[in-house]
Amino acid sequence: MIVSLENVFKSFQVPGGAPLPVLDNFSCEIAEREFLCIVGPSGCGKSTLLTMLGGLEKPTGGVIRFSGERSSSGPLTTIVWQDYALIPWRSVIDNVSFGLEIMGVPKHQRKAEAMRHLKLMGIEGFDQHYPHQLSGGMRQRVGIARALTNNPEILLMDEPFGAVDAQTRMVLQDELTALWMRDRKTVLFITHSIEEALLLGDRVIVLSPRPARILEEITVPFPRPRSVDIERDPRFTELRLHIWDLLKGGVEKARIEPEATSAGTH
Ligand SMILES: Nc1ncnc2c1ncn2[C@@H]1O[C@H](COP(=O)(O)OP(=O)(O)OP(=O)(O)O)[C@@H](O)[C@H]1O
Ligand SMILES: [Mg+2]
Repeated sequence: MIVSLENVFKSFQVPGGAPLPVLDNFSCEIAEREFLCIVGPSGCGKSTLLTMLGGLEKPTGGVIRFSGERSSSGPLTTIVWQDYALIPWRSVIDNVSFGLEIMGVPKHQRKAEAMRHLKLMGIEGFDQHYPHQLSGGMRQRVGIARALTNNPEILLMDEPFGAVDAQTRMVLQDELTALWMRDRKTVLFITHSIEEALLLGDRVIVLSPRPARILEEITVPFPRPRSVDIERDPRFTELRLHIWDLLKGGVEKARIEPEATSAGTH
């Protein structure tokens, strides 16, 4: 087991206002080498969950535990952001090797690692380009190459394909799955797309509107390697509708019981 969240509660202090509860009594486990997808309504707290796992935010209550090889110093996590978050004044290779530079890895070694991952992502010819000279799909390839170069134990992905066109998205989904099948890193992948979650994940966690609670954890039954052909499987349609019903039900319930979203009971 690599990550466990126990009764994690998170609220943000809004200046002059009541605390804003974002995650409510959140408990789940992420198994080693698992590909876990999270879907939930906009603003429910998905990115907040990810920033806590990435160590950028602290839970207000509850515990996040990591167990594994490097547990004493906490696992190495890396976040791939939806808007790429590349450094505009650094070339592609310097963006990708940035994490290793911070860790003090010698120049020739970090360049070699960065080039290896640029090659894996199919953009080795663009190492001297700057982010503004790339298309959205290429920028996200750089974002993923940068994350992989850091060799994280847990790869945290926040709607990484949300900003690319449908075709590029399918290609990137395929490439990410192929990489994951090879390296089997633990991946936590946030998406708005139910189809994407069912295509990529071993499991899908469905969240309620803010403050996010787990509505259901679903084990995805399709064997790997998978392709978009799984969409023809009747179980796919059934699961897609089921998740959609859960999301819709959660949003409707929040509308009827608005106080449920502002209960600061912790
Ligand atoms: N640093 C912060 N300070 C105050 N409030 C915050 C902060 N970060 C997030 N929030 C609030 O927490 C709630 C959840 O935000 P979060 O970004 O986690 O949602 P999300 O599920 O990722 O949404 P989306 O699907 O739109 O990306 C929002 O109401 C947001 O305004
Ligand atoms: Mg978000």
